[in-house]
Amino acid sequence: MVSKTWSFTTLGVEAVKVTVEVDASRGLPGTTVVGLPDSAVKESRERVRAAIINSGYPYPTKRIVVNLAPADLKKEGTLYDLPIALAILASSSILSQDKLNEYVIAGELGLKGEVNRVKGVLPAAIMAKKEGFKGLIVPPENVEEALLIEGIEIIPVKNLVETAAFLNGDIQIPPAEKKEIYNRFSFNVDMSEIVGQYQAKRALEIAAAGHHNVFMVGPPGSGKTMLARRLPTILPPMTEEEIVETSKIYSVAGLTSEIPVASRPFRSPHALCSDVSLIGGGNSVKPGEVSLAHNGVLFLDEMAEFKRSALESLRQPLEDGFVTISRASGTYTFPARFSLVGASNPCPCGYYGFPDSVHQCTCSPHQIKKYMSKISGPIMDRIDIHITVPAVKPEELKDKREGESSEKIRERVIKAHEIQKKRFQNSKIKFNSQMGRKEIKQFCKLTQEAENMLLQAVKSFGLSARSFNRILKLSRTIADLDSCDTIELKHIAEALSYRETTT
Ligand SMILES: Nc1ncnc2c1ncn2[C@@H]1O[C@H](COP(=O)(O)OP(=O)(O)OP(=O)(O)O)[C@@H](O)[C@H]1O
Ligand SMILES: [Mg+2]
Repeated sequence: MVSKTWSFTTLGVEAVKVTVEVDASRGLPGTTVVGLPDSAVKESRERVRAAIINSGYPYPTKRIVVNLAPADLKKEGTLYDLPIALAILASSSILSQDKLNEYVIAGELGLKGEVNRVKGVLPAAIMAKKEGFKGLIVPPENVEEALLIEGIEIIPVKNLVETAAFLNGDIQIPPAEKKEIYNRFSFNVDMSEIVGQYQAKRALEIAAAGHHNVFMVGPPGSGKTMLARRLPTILPPMTEEEIVETSKIYSVAGLTSEIPVASRPFRSPHALCSDVSLIGGGNSVKPGEVSLAHNGVLFLDEMAEFKRSALESLRQPLEDGFVTISRASGTYTFPARFSLVGASNPCPCGYYGFPDSVHQCTCSPHQIKKYMSKISGPIMDRIDIHITVPAVKPEELKDKREGESSEKIRERVIKAHEIQKKRFQNSKIKFNSQMGRKEIKQFCKLTQEAENMLLQAVKSFGLSARSFNRILKLSRTIADLDSCDTIELKHIAEALSYRETTT
């Protein structure tokens, strides 16, 4: 007899429906799993057998074939344990097939039959709703992510016996109830904690307002990391749509406990991290740090210490807002739209250009040049704001006066976002930093004075066409923060102060 349950597999951040078919026929007892299973799926035979027996059910003494269809899609992980076990129980008429058709089911089984968490339940909930299923049967730990999708029943199950009893109608399990998302600003840091550093704070405000990338150079201990950590706190709260988008990535990465991702993520990969952990990929394709930072901030501390190949691979996400990874098993796409903040010391010892009473730079000119040259080129071209962050003087640090709060700054950022929303309502782009030549021409109108200054700057600083456009985009954001339609002299002057001077 052939019985069937429904489950899923993920391709990037999308779930695809998978049918779990079980055929139990006469022959030498044994269980085979077919349909491109990976080793975790193959091992599920042993877990399922133990779970069924330890839950008090007989394991059929038949030749059992488990088919995961469509057979050309790779099946990974442990999520098929529960649907396989249920299909086996149905094949020996312990369960009826009817109710099994109404649910998408996923769960890893322990040897005693307990149901443990799996990856990818959020995309599965989206798929199940689209395909018209009544609900989703999932481990308790995965309930919260599934609840982000409305209009589909989420049934949490603790073990195999409970699941079977529910499907047979012997017990009722009420669908989980949607909870209010309250932690949209669960930050334990605030801009007000930063003493001084007015230019840096202003630069972060502009970055947040126009979605510009930032690069900070300064000596050790000047507060670069501290500043970067506070960028998410001045960004607007995440929308429902953004919460689902980002949570989907965490779901397929298996970071269940962090879902829902309701406050903007801040990711800070180590300089020695592998390209795979930064960009994504690996044997069983996983999203990288750039995707975990989606809708939030990616902070590359000590940027000059990153491998060149890692920095080069940031080009695609910076340009397109997503990452594609090609494998024999298919092409995987992960969203990766983030604000990039880079930080670096000016040289290996850290004090070139920023000497203090104790420290003098001890590097040779060659060392200094080599250090910075690593981060020049393609990545720098995608960073609009370049600032230096000198150390705050010790006597200033004693100043007890509180700086402006993140909330206050955020209000101005939100206002600037609203201006841009109106400006780009008929366009694919959302922020000033994403403007191309056409939009720059249309939206960056300058006063005569401002234009003269810009042309003068082109001559005296030898600005390239690319930097010229970057300055226009940046001055557009600065003017937006000022609620000015036309870009004025002071806006251009400020934008010019953030230009790249290190190369
Ligand atoms: N402007 C500031 N206001 C308040 N505290 C500060 C400020 N600047 C530095 N500090 C203090 O100095 C510490 C070091 O700062 P931080 O780690 O951000 O420096 P950094 O520039 O990232 O240094 P490095 O180059 O070594 O990474 C902070 O934890 C904070 O306690
Ligand atoms: Mg630091």
